Amino acid sequence: MKIVVGYESYHGNTRTMAYALERGAREAGAETVIRNIRQIKPFDIKNADVVVVATPTYHQKPPSNVRYFMKNYDNFDFSGKTAFVLGSCEELGDAIDQTIDFFRSKGATVLTPPIKVKGKPTKADLESCQQKGSELATTQRF
Ligand SMILES: Cc1cc2nc3c(=O)[nH]c(=O)nc-3n(C[C@H](O)[C@H](O)[C@H](O)COP(=O)(O)O)c2cc1C
Repeated sequence: MKIVVGYESYHGNTRTMAYALERGAREAGAETVIRNIRQIKPFDIKNADVVVVATPTYHQKPPSNVRYFMKNYDNFDFSGKTAFVLGSCEELGDAIDQTIDFFRSKGATVLTPPIKVKGKPTKADLESCQQKGSELATTQRF
């Protein structure tokens, strides 16, 4: 199972969640790539069975690098791929919902519910992220 995790994070909250998920996936046997979303390469996406985006919400939307990712992959066909979205927020976490909508509109199978954490993730939150990574690694077979 090949899992790519692209994250953006200004204060570290979402990044910590992304790394916990990636660790769970890797320890469960997946081949993983984790990068700031701006550094994700087309090869990473083409090669992946599962694409994970970890995004905080700022001003009711994803940060610019996440929006840049969506713009870049606007014509990409995600059908046959599974997507999962997570992130930290303080209110509604609209960026997560918008990213889910993006993946759905491009044909991905989006696993829901996403993981939305308020503010700084607790140990239990990080365990949930790690557990989700493990599930993604072991249950999504193509
Ligand atoms: C200027 C600013 C605007 C924000 N806007 C929103 C928002 O519209 N919706 C929301 O749910 N959280 C909002 N937040 C909360 C952040 O998403 C939250 O602090 C999150 O933990 C930041 O994650 P990061 O450390 O990964 O960047 C905002 C925070 C700041 C500082």
